[in-house]
Amino acid sequence: MEGQWEVTDKRVSVIGLGYAGLPLALAFARAGILTVGIDISEEKVNLLKNGKSYLTDVNDDQVRQVQDLFQPTTDYAAVEGSTAVIICVPTPVKEAGEPDVSAVINAGERLGPFVKRGMLIVLQSTTFPGTTEEILRPILERRSGLQAGQDFCLAYSPERIDPGNKEYNLTNTPKLVGGCASCCSERAKRLFENIVTKAPIYILTSPRVAEAAKLFENTFRFINIALVNELAYICRALGISVWEVLDAAATKPFGFTKFTPGPGAGGHCIPVDPLYLLWNGRRFNQESRFIQLAHEINNAMPHIIVNIVADVLNERGLPVRDRTFLILGVAYKPDVNDPRHSPALPIMDLLMRKKGIVFYHDPFIDKISFNSWTAESVPLSQELLHSCDCVIIVTPHSCYDWRWIVDNARLVVDTRGVTRHLMAKNVVLL
Ligand SMILES: NC(=O)c1ccc[n+]([C@@H]2O[C@H](COP(=O)([O-])OP(=O)(O)OC[C@H]3O[C@@H](n4cnc5c(N)ncnc54)[C@H](O)[C@@H]3O)[C@@H](O)[C@H]2O)c1
Repeated sequence: MEGQWEVTDKRVSVIGLGYAGLPLALAFARAGILTVGIDISEEKVNLLKNGKSYLTDVNDDQVRQVQDLFQPTTDYAAVEGSTAVIICVPTPVKEAGEPDVSAVINAGERLGPFVKRGMLIVLQSTTFPGTTEEILRPILERRSGLQAGQDFCLAYSPERIDPGNKEYNLTNTPKLVGGCASCCSERAKRLFENIVTKAPIYILTSPRVAEAAKLFENTFRFINIALVNELAYICRALGISVWEVLDAAATKPFGFTKFTPGPGAGGHCIPVDPLYLLWNGRRFNQESRFIQLAHEINNAMPHIIVNIVADVLNERGLPVRDRTFLILGVAYKPDVNDPRHSPALPIMDLLMRKKGIVFYHDPFIDKISFNSWTAESVPLSQELLHSCDCVIIVTPHSCYDWRWIVDNARLVVDTRGVTRHLMAKNVVLL
């Protein structure tokens, strides 16, 4: 396929229009490339067709501005005529912690018949090393009758989007690409040069390296979050502030990266991706004790928070039973509308199991479901703060006025340290 990477992309398709895929599709459209967005959700496609976004990071105007160049659809046949296709479908874990790559398989099966000579396919879903070459490649080759690296290009390029991040976006975040052959890598690099205009694009020797790099980035974060969570309860036992310890350590200008403790690790990536690495290592008889331990520590955090709440109430002569609790923020991180794997869910569940009466407020999430219950966000008011026995800060959305919250609440358990400078007597910090 000599010279194949010199193709100029005029039509690109993005499969899976979620937190990762939609911003990517819009970025290609903004770059002047006709972009087809394919999703199995008719609801999402209809919203986009009507110029509406369902993500906090993307506003309706951003969808409307590119309406001439962005074509959302549920029909895979719309791939026809695309020079490149990027797959951004979800990769969750199953109950037992095993990778669930069924959406990648499904996307491959449905895309396969439309793969043409000279086309580039890039997998962007986060997944275990080997997925592109062992799983996606055979499906595409079988369904198209063509050979990757010879007839069409196939590469892996991790998605590094960080919803809510005001500094880094698709244009200025360095990108990694690893192709099944060097022509595939070159071709993928050229595709992403259309949108990654302010950061380098690095070519790696294989899709496996790119897949592993992504998993390691998030595993690094997951393990450091666990370490700092462990530090939080050591500091509690010592009667010193973990926040002050961390601020002090962070004055060192080299060799230290600051992570902050909290109610657990949430989201679709940080608690999930390390399990992909753990599972993959086990396929080759390699254990990761670090990942296993971090998983246990981070998963225990909601229990630790509920124990702190119960202890604090106990000191005031109150049982958890029949007490009212207000959870502030149920998204897995500030300023997003994503509750996946949020520690708020098990915290609420544990309080309910102890017969507490639990309310939540989240400006971005109207309704949540977990286990057998569903709850709706309540309006945040002075009366509500006054009336609840305990307010638990789980997700510090930037719209919250901490002074006002602390002044009006009876008791606050702050799992994020956001009220630590207020020096309020009614606040208990993690
Ligand atoms: N959310 C993030 O911040 C983030 C960051 C980096 C990497 N990632 C990775 O990106 C991938 C996608 O994550 P996400 O957060 O965007 O997930 P998401 O659930 O928000 O979006 C995935 C979309 O794919 C659609 N979909 C599912 N199966 C499909 C199929 N067979 N064909 C077409 N569409 C299909 C779903 O309807 C959904 O709209 C995952 O592998 C994730 O780990 C996500």
